[in-house]
Amino acid sequence: MKPNPTHIGQVESVSGNSVTIKMASNYPSNMPIVDGTVYRIGQIGSFLKIPLGYANLYGLITQAGVLAMPESLLVAYKENPSIADGHRWLRMILVGEQIGSSFERGVLQSPTSGDQVHLVTNEDLRIVYGGYNAQSSIVIGNQSASEGLAAQLDMDKLISRHCAILGATGSGKSNAVSIVVKAIAEKPFPSARVLMIDPHGEYASSLAGKCRVFRVGAIAGEGELCVPFWALPFKELMAIFPGKLSDQNEDYIRGKVLEMKRAWAADVEGLREEAITADSPIPFSIKQLWFDLDNFERMTFRKDQETLMDLTEEGDAETLKSNLYPAAAPGGGEPFLNNKAKGILGFLDGMRSRLLDQRYQFLFEPEGYCPDIEGQAPSDLPSLFATWFGHGFPISILDLSAIPSDIMQAISGSILKIVYDALYWGQTTLVGGKQQPLFVVLDEAHAYLKAGEDSISSRTVQAIAKEGRKYGVGMLLVTQRPSELDETVLSQCGSIIALRMTNTRDKGHVSSAMQDELREMADVLSSLRTGEAIVSGEAVRIPSRVKFFQADNAVKSSDPIASKLWANPQPDVAEYEASVRNWRNQSFN
Ligand SMILES: Nc1ncnc2c1ncn2[C@@H]1O[C@H](COP(=O)(O)OP(=O)(O)OP(=O)(O)O)[C@@H](O)[C@H]1O
Ligand SMILES: [Mg+2]
Repeated sequence: MKPNPTHIGQVESVSGNSVTIKMASNYPSNMPIVDGTVYRIGQIGSFLKIPLGYANLYGLITQAGVLAMPESLLVAYKENPSIADGHRWLRMILVGEQIGSSFERGVLQSPTSGDQVHLVTNEDLRIVYGGYNAQSSIVIGNQSASEGLAAQLDMDKLISRHCAILGATGSGKSNAVSIVVKAIAEKPFPSARVLMIDPHGEYASSLAGKCRVFRVGAIAGEGELCVPFWALPFKELMAIFPGKLSDQNEDYIRGKVLEMKRAWAADVEGLREEAITADSPIPFSIKQLWFDLDNFERMTFRKDQETLMDLTEEGDAETLKSNLYPAAAPGGGEPFLNNKAKGILGFLDGMRSRLLDQRYQFLFEPEGYCPDIEGQAPSDLPSLFATWFGHGFPISILDLSAIPSDIMQAISGSILKIVYDALYWGQTTLVGGKQQPLFVVLDEAHAYLKAGEDSISSRTVQAIAKEGRKYGVGMLLVTQRPSELDETVLSQCGSIIALRMTNTRDKGHVSSAMQDELREMADVLSSLRTGEAIVSGEAVRIPSRVKFFQADNAVKSSDPIASKLWANPQPDVAEYEASVRNWRNQSFN
């Protein structure tokens, strides 16, 4: 009888769902030809099957070579290599079971030693990789095991259970993000909602026609990016200013902010006064707040500690100019210091310099949303959200490339916080996350989500990771340094797309975030090609090695190119004048 060309060996031992396979010593080749197709045996990340009666068990190869031997044999082999006797070894984990034309993840039965092991043909793979729901699946590339087979993701799981794209620099992360987001945007969903935080301004070109771009200093066709400071919770707002406040002083300022927010709310119908707190997203004049606090610190009095001294110079809240009083006399005479002063002039100084810092204009003087001295803003938050999400495109890109990296955390954190709060509180409305889910893409997540750091961005991302699912906010985290990312956040990602990665620490973090059975596969991560990934978790029916498509419009990288720019003639040294003037003026023009 002619041997079956798909039969490659037999089960040697089984432990849990890990199976050791001994390849037949007379198996002709590592690259057999079955029905005219060449197959490669023993590729990490490829499949083998074990027929058991009317079902087929499928396993994913995690190890090949001597180390895949059962432990007991390995010891003997080290003493005496000849016992291998021409056999080769593979280790695989069982991942699913096929009955007829249906494939289910997980196995109900287990093989026993001696069972036959077969290679998996394209016909079989079609069954394994098939079975996605057409409405909710997206195609992102091809299966590495067989280029003719599409690699798909379950979009619903991807969004609701969060996902991480991890890989070394240049491994193809941004390209993968583009492909995933574009595939979502190309679905015929009129109310798809994707928010991309784009630190390098990379995505606008590859997603052109599907997105609206917002940036600080917008050019034609884009929207101006602004984030009203008053929508932030009190503590987050204070954290943006340099310098620390004692708990008492923080309470003192909180009280002032509350007063101002209450005053605004008193004129508005439909707001419950007792629900207003210093955290409520209600406009108030931060300049007036600064001015009042500053004035209180500077006041000096006559002997009675009640009569104010006459001003020596009148200040102005609008321009952040302090009221000045005659200086307190040393040694107990008039004028006297305000003995109720809080000693926060240092903090107020830092606050003033932030309020004047041009780079923070998007926050403290947001165009259209900046309250006047009375606390009245021309436009309110509903119109901000309408601008961000009601433009008719499925994707909103917030381009942060023009923003210095030291304030990136504050910005991305503030944006996420405001959006998340709006979707959380909107859960009973049609624009809340429960009715219209939001998919948030965070590229270069390590830049503002450092492990162990207590910032508005990391707090918000942690909250979304933990409970976003319930409120319809999903996240796609992208980073080249998984080891710097907060581990609890990574562990909340239901799907992991692991591209090439060489750093051992990073690989360790990735493998610990992957399903237990796949940990042994971490070693293969360093040998993946650009754009190739191990995809595991809830968004795929079965863990697989995938080659992403390449985006048509290459993702743009906006770094200055030395070889091109240094070819220009030497600039006039007078340019340094302008540079220093800008620095002093805190402006770029
Ligand atoms: N699937 C793919 N097929 C072919 N080429 C690819 C693929 N994915 C990425 N590339 C190419 O690899 C290069 C790097 O890709 P990309 O910018 O996506 O990497 P990255 O991981 O985002 O890098 P960085 O960490 O620097 O942001 C690009 O030139 C891109 O065109
Ligand atoms: Mg990138």
